[in-house]
Amino acid sequence: MKLLHIDSSITGAASASRMLTQYVVEQIRRQNDKVQLEYLDLADNPPPYFSADSMGLRLGLDDASLNERQRAENRISEQLVSQFLEADTLVIGAPFYNFTIPSQLKSWLDRIAQAGRTFRYTANGPEGLAGDKTVYIVVSRGGVYSNSEQGQALEHQESYLRVMFGFMGVTNLHFIYAEGMAKAPEQRAAILDNAKASVSNLLEQAPA
Ligand SMILES: Cc1cc2nc3c(=O)[nH]c(=O)nc-3n(C[C@H](O)[C@H](O)[C@H](O)COP(=O)(O)O)c2cc1C
Repeated sequence: MKLLHIDSSITGAASASRMLTQYVVEQIRRQNDKVQLEYLDLADNPPPYFSADSMGLRLGLDDASLNERQRAENRISEQLVSQFLEADTLVIGAPFYNFTIPSQLKSWLDRIAQAGRTFRYTANGPEGLAGDKTVYIVVSRGGVYSNSEQGQALEHQESYLRVMFGFMGVTNLHFIYAEGMAKAPEQRAAILDNAKASVSNLLEQAPA
């Protein structure tokens, strides 16, 4: 089983999402001793922002018509989308920054959202092509957004990730929550313990 582990927090050793993605990966490896693990640290090694030069794949231009910079951009997109498509399971750390996901994680999504690879347009509308995966996403948040309408209206992290992975056809999509990390720092250990406990339940109900 190919497992792709992705972190995107910029807070290094203090990161809640990094700690929890590591925990999820360990638990999956306890369930399955045949895991082939790949790791992306998007904070250390972010995919470049989309630019005019990275649009070649989207425009369907053939390689011969591209310049060297455009080819280099395409190679980055191709490597990331292939790695995503080959993974059976993904564990993604998605911290909550300024009401949404880190721009590094957005850059990765921009590279893998490719017509003909992860989705396609049909007469009946868009169709996801990456539905054969299980995706676990750790969301870590300073405040608490899940338990009120106002919070849910402000939250563009989980809601956005549901749209993106749904668009690519992923239905086995599971969230692990660490909320209130800044609101109640004295409860940090308890919040992380609760999140860990939810991982065990989740892996029982929705095995990797
Ligand atoms: C740049 C930055 C922006 C943040 N913006 C928000 C925010 O808009 N709302 C919020 O509740 N918490 C916010 N936080 C707090 C983080 O969501 C919280 O620290 C969480 O634990 C981040 O995940 P991490 O520990 O894995 O980095 C922000 C933190 C940083 C570093």
